[in-house]
Amino acid sequence: MTTLVVHPASGPLTGSVPVPSDKSIGHRSLLLGALCEGDTRITGFSHGEDNVSTANCLRAMGIGIEEPAPTELVVHGKGLRGLQASAKDLDCGNSGTTMRLLCGVLAAAHFRSTLVGDETLQRRPMMRVAAPLRLRGAVIEGRKHPTKQDILAPLVIGPLPEGRTLSALEYESPVASAQVKSAILLSGLYAEGVTRVREPSVSRDHTERMLQALGVPLRAVGPVVEIDPSGWDRRMPAFEMAIPGDVSAAAFVLVAANLVEGSRVTARDVGVNPTRTGLLEIARDMGAGLSIEPQGERGGEPVAELHASCAPLRAILVGGETVPRAIDEIPIACALAARASGTTRIRDAEELRHKESDRIATMATVLRAFGIACEEQPDGLDVTGRHDALDACEVQSKGDHRIAMTAAVLALVARGPCRIRDAACIATSYPKFVATLRALGARVDVETD
Ligand code: S3P
Repeated sequence: MTTLVVHPASGPLTGSVPVPSDKSIGHRSLLLGALCEGDTRITGFSHGEDNVSTANCLRAMGIGIEEPAPTELVVHGKGLRGLQASAKDLDCGNSGTTMRLLCGVLAAAHFRSTLVGDETLQRRPMMRVAAPLRLRGAVIEGRKHPTKQDILAPLVIGPLPEGRTLSALEYESPVASAQVKSAILLSGLYAEGVTRVREPSVSRDHTERMLQALGVPLRAVGPVVEIDPSGWDRRMPAFEMAIPGDVSAAAFVLVAANLVEGSRVTARDVGVNPTRTGLLEIARDMGAGLSIEPQGERGGEPVAELHASCAPLRAILVGGETVPRAIDEIPIACALAARASGTTRIRDAEELRHKESDRIATMATVLRAFGIACEEQPDGLDVTGRHDALDACEVQSKGDHRIAMTAAVLALVARGPCRIRDAACIATSYPKFVATLRALGARVDVETD
């Protein structure tokens, strides 16, 4: 068990830091690299455990992935039909994206695959991908959920009988989820006929951008995405991808600077795809010191340098279409709310209950441990900010990296050292988080028992 002991900041946080490569783009680069023909080169890869899970699953299915330099990978793609049955279960670790995107690719396979994950992942709902894929003929079975109409991993997928292909699909997704949308689109690469998916509002669009760049006949109009494969030769060329920094990771250092008086922090080379920048808008609406300096495009994604500083914060209402664009940042948005004047109300965020932990319940527990008044709602939280030092406390991450990092940020403005238990999970998305906080001037000790 790893525990972080985070000391109250004794002065401003200052510095300019890189952030880890975007986890969502990392998964897609690996997966699409495997399905392309030839050698795909990925640069700026930072080895978060979730991305490594995707790489290892692909290796288990016969894809060669080399590492010529510490942040560079070469994926030896074998084409759409190049994956082979794995001799062992495909271990997705803690990564929902690995499991759900693989479901889309393996739905059309003429071999059987078993997808497993860690304890947390095996509690997460999987019917959301199984249901649309079954509608187009895929064979997917899972463990029955003990109380709900859902299935859980381990998932067994395929084989699709020889001679059968996936059918066309028109699907209205009940949730704005890029994992569901991407699984459907990836299965559409193999299907006969058109794939059309509509979301309640737009979720991250990295899959769409990458497929279009690879020549797949994909059209996106607002929340509707369509692939019409007629006339397409079902081949994708190998590519080069320089992965931008992850705005979802940058959020923790930026908000740390927003909270600690006198701070000035820059996060460099951060992807600012508009489907991902909900937190930046939330922070600005709350009055946070934040400026965005555009730096052009990288890997088909807009990139910017983000500058954060400390300024008085005010409570706001967070809801509607902002939520899917800030879905991973709602915990750290709660840290802003904890220091804002008034009560911040977060709504339309029921999806948070299905993340690495039930983030509504876990965040409420963490906030209360720091002495912050908060009320759980079915689809969000009400958080009342305070301006004096927060209570020193010990909290549990529940194995959820974003909860652990949010707690570490809150601890910087507490009245004494705070202990964040079960913090090893931070490595799933931000292996250098502690080193980065220290580089900015924070004092963090790591204990292992
Ligand atoms: C992701 C999509 C989001 C997000 C996750 C990464 C992706 O999940 O929470 O961290 O890379 O597609 P949902 O699609 O389930 O909202």
